[in-house]
Amino acid sequence: MELMNKILEVAKSDKKRIVLPEGNEERTITAAQHIQAQGFAYPVLVGDDKEILDKANELGVDLTGVEIVNPEKSDRLQAYIESFYELRKNKGMTIEKAEKIVRDPLYFGTMMVKLDDADGMVSGAIHTTGDLLRPGLQIIKTAPGVSVVSSFFIMMVPGSNYGEEGMLLFSDCAVNPNPNEDQLAAIAIATAETAKNLCKIDPKVAMLSFSTMGSADGDLVTKVRNATEKAKELRPDLLIDGELQLDAAIVKKVADQKAPNSKVAGKANVLVFPDLQAGNIGYKLVQRFANAEAIGPICQGFAKPINDLSRGCSYEDIVKVVAITAVQAQSVK
Ligand code: ACO
Repeated sequence: MELMNKILEVAKSDKKRIVLPEGNEERTITAAQHIQAQGFAYPVLVGDDKEILDKANELGVDLTGVEIVNPEKSDRLQAYIESFYELRKNKGMTIEKAEKIVRDPLYFGTMMVKLDDADGMVSGAIHTTGDLLRPGLQIIKTAPGVSVVSSFFIMMVPGSNYGEEGMLLFSDCAVNPNPNEDQLAAIAIATAETAKNLCKIDPKVAMLSFSTMGSADGDLVTKVRNATEKAKELRPDLLIDGELQLDAAIVKKVADQKAPNSKVAGKANVLVFPDLQAGNIGYKLVQRFANAEAIGPICQGFAKPINDLSRGCSYEDIVKVVAITAVQAQSVK
C-alpha cells in the first residue's frame, strides 16, 4: 500500500483532535472539510466563527461536524492565559503580556495541545516556520529523553530506485540552523526512529558531508565525523554511518569504491545534512530537478506533535500533514 494510504489507515484506527489555528484561511477551511469527510481525524478550526463560516459559504465548503473555537468566546481562554503565564514567568512573562499573547491563534492552538484539549497542531499556510516553532518550543517543549526538536521531509522521487524505491527521509531541512555535534547525533537518531515508526522502513542513516570516510579534512568534516561516532555510541542498534558524500551514500557503485566496508553506503534511505543551509537547499534541489514530492517539513522531538506547512501549500498538503500529525499523536505517552 502506498505510504500515505497506510498513514491514513493508521490515523483512522485511533482518531485524534488536530487543531488548525489558521482557521479562516481558505486552504485550511477546505482541508478541514476533507479531513472531516475522510474521517481520519477531528479537525478543529481556531478563529472568529462568523468569519470562518462566511468564508466557508463563499467557498462552497460544508463545515458540518467541524468544530470551530473562537478564542474570544472560549471558556478555556482564562485557563490558557494562566497556564502560559506559569510556564513562562521565569522568562519575564507577566499576566498582562500573557493575556495578549495567548489570544494569538498560534499560541491559543498550542495551549489547546498543551492542556490536552487537542492532540496536535498544524499551521504555516500563512505563517513562517519560526512563527509556528517558537510557541511550540516555548510551551510544548521536547519529549522526555529528546534534546532537540528537528524536522524531516519524506521525499518521493518518481522513477528512482535510490533509498526505499525512491522514498528517502531528509533531515534537518527546516529547524536547526547550525546543529553542534551532539545535536546532529540527536537528529540522526530521531530521524531513524521516525523512519521505523512512521514510514515502517529499516533505517540506513547516512551522515552527509563533502568528504567520504576521511577523503577530506577540516572543522566541517570533523563535526560530521564526531556526530556519527556519538550517534553510533548512543544507539549501536541503529545503522548510522559517515561521513559520506551524497553519491557514496546512495549509489552502490560509488559506495563500493569509496566506502566498501560500510553497511549504509550505497543503500542509505535517511540522509542527515550537516546544517540547515545544506538541508534546505538539498531538499529543494531534489524537489525541483527530480519532480519529487516533498512531504513536510514534519517536526520530530516535540512532547506532542506540532507541524509546519509551506506557505505555498495546497489544501491536499494540509490534509497529508494533518494525517501524519494524527499518527504522531498516537505515540504520545
Ligand atoms: N529544540 C529544542 N528547543 C529549542 C530549539 C530546538 N531545535 N531551538 C530553540 N529551542 C528553545 C530554546 O532553548 C528556547 O527555550 P526557552 O525560551 O524555554 O529558554 C526557546 O526554544 C526559544 O528559543 P530561541 O533561541 O529564543 O528561539 P529562536 O528565536 O532562535 O527560534 C527557531 C528558534 C524558530 C527554531 C529558529 O532556530 C529558526 O528560525 N529556525 C529556522 C527556521 C527556518 O526559517 N527554516 C527554514 C524555512 S522552512 C522551509 O523551507 C520548509
